[in-house]
Amino acid sequence: MTTPHSPLSTPRILLTGKNGQVGFELQRSLAMLGEVFAVDRDDCDLANPDAIRDLVQRIRPDIIVNPAAHTAVDRAESEIELATLLNTTAPQVFAEEAAKLGALLVHYSTDYVFDGRKNGAYLEDDVTNPQSVYGKTKLAGEDAIRASGCRHLIFRTSWVFGAHGANFLKTMLRLMQQRDALSVVADQIGAPTSASLIADVTAHAIRQVMRNGEWGVGSRDLDVGEAGSAMHLLPSAAITMVGQSRLAGGEDVVENLLPTPQSQLPSLYGTYHLVASGETSWHGYASLVNDIAAQQGYTLKITSEAIKAIPASDYPVPAPRPANSRLSTQKLQSTFGLVLPDWQVGVQQVMTLIKQP
Ligand SMILES: NC(=O)c1ccc[n+]([C@@H]2O[C@H](COP(=O)([O-])OP(=O)(O)OC[C@H]3O[C@@H](n4cnc5c(N)ncnc54)[C@H](OP(=O)(O)O)[C@@H]3O)[C@@H](O)[C@H]2O)c1
Repeated sequence: MTTPHSPLSTPRILLTGKNGQVGFELQRSLAMLGEVFAVDRDDCDLANPDAIRDLVQRIRPDIIVNPAAHTAVDRAESEIELATLLNTTAPQVFAEEAAKLGALLVHYSTDYVFDGRKNGAYLEDDVTNPQSVYGKTKLAGEDAIRASGCRHLIFRTSWVFGAHGANFLKTMLRLMQQRDALSVVADQIGAPTSASLIADVTAHAIRQVMRNGEWGVGSRDLDVGEAGSAMHLLPSAAITMVGQSRLAGGEDVVENLLPTPQSQLPSLYGTYHLVASGETSWHGYASLVNDIAAQQGYTLKITSEAIKAIPASDYPVPAPRPANSRLSTQKLQSTFGLVLPDWQVGVQQVMTLIKQP
């Protein structure tokens, strides 16, 4: 069975930052949606706006997915020009090109757009007030996308980790094997979020947008697959869908992905918070890494008692971090019919992957 559109063609998906944490996982999750053109900085230097325009005009994508960014938060304080080019200008150019093509732009942003002074979890519409160059340039990138008028999904996430790439989890794992004492910040709260969860939710959201019927996608009608093919969308089983049931064969039937008449569907475009459920501090996060590493048989120099909880003021860094990085995912969960897993699930999954030979 196909959608009512005809003739059908496979979506062309341009993916940036293919070797980044999220980009690496997106190569897997987006492959189920269409033909993926994954690029790295050798294919296109995203600090060069002309190169971005050339790339988009050459590939003529239906969907642009842009996880590439200047993510070195402390270095950004002294690399303002480069951070602006990558975090503000590049998304702006992608958005302008997407608007011309009628393409969908999927982009990622950060909890650092907030100052962290709110009590409770931030909502998408809460007042932003970034405190760092990274946060300011990322927010300006968001604003440029919203101003461009292109179809877009912006996912704000936090504390990203994965088996691929450098991150806090892997740094802790290494240090716990080298040192007998560690001090870790305990007064910043957030949700460690796995790159694979972000990639799976992204693919799920894109598919829903495609099914939504509001999207003619430029001049072409796209084959979004058979209704039942959504069963294979989430191989990592990282997300629970509302209305899902498990078959004997282990396949998930995602009832809420069945095509719905266009008139019943609100627009899905916009800005969403995408983080794992629950919350912790960096110290709580490190403690879980230590516990799992001990269970997995790592030879650790450290004991859990030797992981000292310290205030952020005892660990000065160039870029200020929000004390409260909690992001409410209510909008994402209700709009896309998702129940997001607790952050600990992702930590366990990634540590199991890392441990494998
Ligand atoms: N990491 C976090 O904790 C975190 C938290 C909140 C939000 N986010 C956002 O989530 C998204 C994905 O983050 P991530 O952790 O996956 O980032 P990441 O692992 O640091 O990957 C960033 C990617 O951008 C690419 N890149 C950097 N400069 C480039 C250039 N001049 N030209 C082309 N490509 C360039 C990098 O290429 P190379 O591999 O060649 O360096 C890399 O593939 C980003 O938008 C980030 O702002 C991340």
